[in-house]
Amino acid sequence: MAGQYGAYQNEIYLQGLGEQVPPFTTDPTRFEAAAREKLDDGPYGYVAGGAGSGATMRANRAAFDGWRIVPRMLTDATQRDLATTVLGTELPSPVLLAPVGVQSIVHPDGELATARAAAALGVPMVLSTASSNTIEDVAAANGAGTRWFQLYWPNDNEVTISILQRAKAAGFSTLVLTLDTWTLAWRPNDLDQAYLPFIRGIGTAIPFSDPAFRAKLAKSPEEDPTSAILQWIPMFTGTDHHWDQLPFLREHWDGPIVLKGIQHVDDARRAAEAGMDGIVVSNHGGRQVDGAVAALDVLPEIAAAVGDRLDVLFDSGVRTGADVLKALALGAKAVLLGRPYVYGLALGGEDGVRHAVRGILADLDLTLGLSGNRTLADLSPDTLRRM
Ligand SMILES: Cc1cc2nc3c(=O)[nH]c(=O)nc-3n(C[C@H](O)[C@H](O)[C@H](O)COP(=O)(O)O)c2cc1C
Repeated sequence: MAGQYGAYQNEIYLQGLGEQVPPFTTDPTRFEAAAREKLDDGPYGYVAGGAGSGATMRANRAAFDGWRIVPRMLTDATQRDLATTVLGTELPSPVLLAPVGVQSIVHPDGELATARAAAALGVPMVLSTASSNTIEDVAAANGAGTRWFQLYWPNDNEVTISILQRAKAAGFSTLVLTLDTWTLAWRPNDLDQAYLPFIRGIGTAIPFSDPAFRAKLAKSPEEDPTSAILQWIPMFTGTDHHWDQLPFLREHWDGPIVLKGIQHVDDARRAAEAGMDGIVVSNHGGRQVDGAVAALDVLPEIAAAVGDRLDVLFDSGVRTGADVLKALALGAKAVLLGRPYVYGLALGGEDGVRHAVRGILADLDLTLGLSGNRTLADLSPDTLRRM
């Protein structure tokens, strides 16, 4: 394991001897600008945009800036190990790919490219209900990789059960239930362009290939896509659920369940009391509640309250290796990368996802060592100083 990820640096410099440079920048804070050049306005706005004024997105980034790493010296950090255990499974690194829907709007290979890159890197992927490819096709592309399935909870039990059964049969080990997006926020970037992928039939591969959903249609989605779209949209968005309904998912899913979108310590406690296996502390990358608290700002209190009862994961604003390190030091067991790998996909398909993720892992590995740490267990709030 030692130096495994950081070695990407050597690879890049060696390729430079043959006049080769990386496919796009190695600075993930510049991926968005690079993707802006490549993508049409609709897809770019959909990925980069957030709720309302964008205040939550800015807060997510500012929160990382509010913590600084205090490096330690002479700690014999030559050999490092980034492995961690999440939900009882050992992962080679503390990084997963967050569920991101409609990936075909940024690259024709969409989730299939992401699935292949994730498998090649040994990084788990979380497949969105709003995927532009079917559960089965993504599983085939992911092969022996570790994959989790993210549910936008339909208000139709037959369809929910059918989707869960398909995910299980296709080798998705963990269910991630996203709570924060039961209806879409006011998103000016998309509204100004009147651009919503779902209404255009993008991100509907999973219901359109679902036998329980198809059985409810007068005509198949191939014959009458508009009617199918209009039946699906109010089924998967617009209905909020309640804590009392969680046992239904337990009944129909026999693996671990993770609640994504937790931001209040009492909700985290409630997840633990409900017997959930994990939570993702997340504000959906600032796409839902404008003016919300930065996800990183609530991570320490949540990790302190429930970290001994369930696995606390984190996303929203993670861009660099240092960001990953900070989230781990503040109590996350692992982090989910969102926009950075999606921009990688936009910029280079499968290879772009690999470059984006390898770079962040290399940066994490080097930053871990250079700050005097050998394993993730060495990290704690003491690793950081609040500015
Ligand atoms: C374009 C886009 C689509 C997303 N789609 C989903 C989704 O289908 N399901 C989900 O749970 N989260 C979705 N998310 C949220 C991500 O899983 C994650 O929480 C977010 O990207 C983290 O913020 P960051 O990318 O700024 O770090 C989406 C995010 C983006 C940017």
